[in-house]
Amino acid sequence: MAFPAFRLSRRGAVLWIRQGIARAEKVQDEMQFELVSLNTVMNPDPKLGGLSFAEGERDIPFAIRRIYYIFQAEKGAHRGFHAHKKNWQLLFCPYGAIDIILFDGEESCTVSLDEPSKGLILYPGLWREMVWKKDDSVLCVAASEYYDPDEYIRDYDEYLQYVKQKKGGIRE
Ligand code: TYD
Repeated sequence: MAFPAFRLSRRGAVLWIRQGIARAEKVQDEMQFELVSLNTVMNPDPKLGGLSFAEGERDIPFAIRRIYYIFQAEKGAHRGFHAHKKNWQLLFCPYGAIDIILFDGEESCTVSLDEPSKGLILYPGLWREMVWKKDDSVLCVAASEYYDPDEYIRDYDEYLQYVKQKKGGIRE
């Protein structure tokens, strides 16, 4: 998958959001995620590092209602093992390296978050697992929804049923 760079004006962001939504509706048989390059500003003094940012509804196609992050996990740790029915998410790893394994009921794909400027936008409905490639890597998530345990699918067989129903045209 390409790693497109985008730095958007407000107008550009609106267009991108419209395209994103159109794409989400159009490509129901494709895995629904986007790997994006977050806006990044490196300080001219390399000792002072860099700064990356993303704005809800401008750089990413949803408003942010919640943020959370996972820390102090060891190399080899596996987390996730769930899908969301409603939640859109932006995942990024500002420190370390984490593999995100995605599954849509048919196809599987692994995305490596191994640079602070990489952002992974996950549309609802994808099963995901995360594998820590380095000790203490930090996984940050910006989410479109408040926390709601009922919005999760944590059982794999239930997920396969859910995908089957979606493909059959049954929508919530
Ligand atoms: P969980 O989703 O199980 O983490 P992971 O899938 O990465 O292993 O979340 C861990 C715990 O944190 C679980 O008890 C639910 C709680 N939690 C909240 O209370 N609010 C939140 O926004 C999130 C993401 C989790």
